[in-house]
Amino acid sequence: MAPLRAFRLPTRVLLEPGSFQRLASAVASCAPRAQRVLLVTDAGLKATSWPRKAKEQLEKAALSLVEFAEVEANPRASTVERLAAVARSETVGCVIALGGGSVLDAAKAAAMLATNGGRCEDFEGARSFVEKPLPFIAVPTTCGTGSEVTWVSVISVEERKSKISIKGDGMFPDVALVDPDLLISLPRDLVVWTGLDAMTHALEALTGTARNPASDALATQAVRSLFDALPRAAADISGDGEARSAMAQGSTLAGMAFGNADVAAVHCLSETLGGLFDVPHGLANAILLVPVLRSHGSSVSGPLGELARNLGWADAGSSDGEASQEALERIEGLVDSLGLPTFASLEVPTAEFSQIALRSTQNGSNASNPRPMGPEEYLQILENLLGPCPRSCP
Ligand SMILES: [Fe+2]
Repeated sequence: MAPLRAFRLPTRVLLEPGSFQRLASAVASCAPRAQRVLLVTDAGLKATSWPRKAKEQLEKAALSLVEFAEVEANPRASTVERLAAVARSETVGCVIALGGGSVLDAAKAAAMLATNGGRCEDFEGARSFVEKPLPFIAVPTTCGTGSEVTWVSVISVEERKSKISIKGDGMFPDVALVDPDLLISLPRDLVVWTGLDAMTHALEALTGTARNPASDALATQAVRSLFDALPRAAADISGDGEARSAMAQGSTLAGMAFGNADVAAVHCLSETLGGLFDVPHGLANAILLVPVLRSHGSSVSGPLGELARNLGWADAGSSDGEASQEALERIEGLVDSLGLPTFASLEVPTAEFSQIALRSTQNGSNASNPRPMGPEEYLQILENLLGPCPRSCP
């Protein structure tokens, strides 16, 4: 077992149905002098009642509101820079993100840029900014991102056709309001894609080299919650309150896990595919999760075997080899039952595979892989994805 690393989670997390109703008091707690707040959403959210409900709460608390609803999937640096300019020109005292991972990441980076100036690329990597970001409140409306409890924002830089990570201690949200009831109107595809993104966060945290006892505990509990709840949430998220709560809990616990360990090859590939071809993050991870885990072979049998024994999927006395096979079968069975598009349907040009493989090795999380991953290893995974029908095919 790896030594316990410093565990950081400065975010105040309210994880329960109804926590969205605490929005105004969350602003009062982290930005007591704020008179004006910036509410960041996207076009999908704008069509729901949640922004109006946020506005009603904030106005009741005598806070004036500036709204920005133009965040796209795989948020772009230019959007974040525009958002930061709005925060500055409107002199807002707090930034609220209401949405999925794209909205949360864009708003998180904008809260930092608003006080530091400059462009996203100036702050690539960890701890590159000096000024404390604006107070930031994250309200996730999907069950996958985890961004509500992490210090990282992943942003697409169009000119480079790649994604960059911006990280820093000050970028942890001040408050996360994780309200399962906000998932009620989430379309089925997004339940499945974001739910499997959360599952990926947990499994990459659990099998990567940056794992530690705290992240293992969080990741194991996340897998437990997500595994049972995902099929139910996919079938009826609006009618099954228990599944909604389990999805919200699993997603946030998985965020805490990878925020204190790391992600690995699935994300190295999906972030590359998102940067080059705008493939939705959750969908890419959902498709890649099992093929990548299987490609790791015996290098993940220890942690996956432990997971299977801890969750009662395998006998307490079973070997790592047997128990990890059981874990892989169960995870693959879950993914198959949810009915994903094929990798081929993403229409990623095979002529670009070498470039995708190379760029994946340049991702900051490549070093956290359970086995050394060079371009050849990534290329093999990509080619296998288009190869003969895997054994999970009917
Ligand atoms: Fe992710």
